[in-house]
Amino acid sequence: MSSVGRDIRGEGKTIGLVPTMGALHEGHLSLMSQAREMCDVVIASVFVNPTQFGAQEDLSRYPRDLARDAELAFTRNVDFIFAPSQEDMYPNGFATYVTVEGLSEKLEGASRPGHFRGVTTVVNKLFNIVQPHFAFFGRKDAQQVIIVKRMVKDLAMSVEIVIGPTVREEDGLALSSRNVYLSTDERKAATVLRRALEKCRSMYNGGERDSARLLNAMRAIIEAEALAKLDYVAISDTANLAPVTTVPYVSPTLVSMAVFFGKTRLIDNIVLNGEI
Ligand code: PAJ
Repeated sequence: MSSVGRDIRGEGKTIGLVPTMGALHEGHLSLMSQAREMCDVVIASVFVNPTQFGAQEDLSRYPRDLARDAELAFTRNVDFIFAPSQEDMYPNGFATYVTVEGLSEKLEGASRPGHFRGVTTVVNKLFNIVQPHFAFFGRKDAQQVIIVKRMVKDLAMSVEIVIGPTVREEDGLALSSRNVYLSTDERKAATVLRRALEKCRSMYNGGERDSARLLNAMRAIIEAEALAKLDYVAISDTANLAPVTTVPYVSPTLVSMAVFFGKTRLIDNIVLNGEI
């Protein structure tokens, strides 16, 4: 694959990479369509990356169906699927990791220690193999975008990060490969993330700037849903992911949360005052 990247670059064509862990849905596919519009050659990677899963997480039961993923990706005219094996990505003796310090320990990182180290390591390796000019990431994983952008900047990597909007079901639930784990009742309850975030946005639009009041309103909505268990909800500065006490008027502010439904953990976010 590495020589494919080099050959395509040599021909003066632009390469777009869409990194995924498979179990493709419209969220992934919309990134592929965006890549198709912007780039001459589109490569989607499918790799369930073990280093970004915690010991108690769902690595072994994460949905895998490469044939289906390839079929879906080709409906968006992706040129190549890159689906390396675990041995390709982490051969015996593998010992090098990339860590974005600080940002990786906040929010999702606080709940999932080591998660972002796994993400930045694999994304770095995918970039090195594929050598894309553009790489596409979804806003659904806002912290991931912020961290990958930081890595690219800090390490002077020659790739441009492009961000796609969060794709949602009709009732507002953000598409996620993990939604398949939900029971029928949990699926209904899962709209609570979006409802809480919408409440925050409407309070914000009505002039509320006090984070404590915004957070309390969101917590109340989550707590009213019997099947939902809040992991965290936070209002953070998008530059450093530090909590803000008052939503500033000028800089973009991330409102993000993680909620458990049984063992299934879902995340969602909105950005007030701009975009990431
Ligand atoms: P995965 O969860 O498969 O997501 C792949 C890409 O699809 C990510 O950029 C993610 O933000 C985006 N995505 C997922 N759901 C989305 C939705 N509802 N709307 C828009 N975009 C969505 O994120 C990962 O894989 C991994 O961490 C990876 C970057 C591949 C590294 O292993």
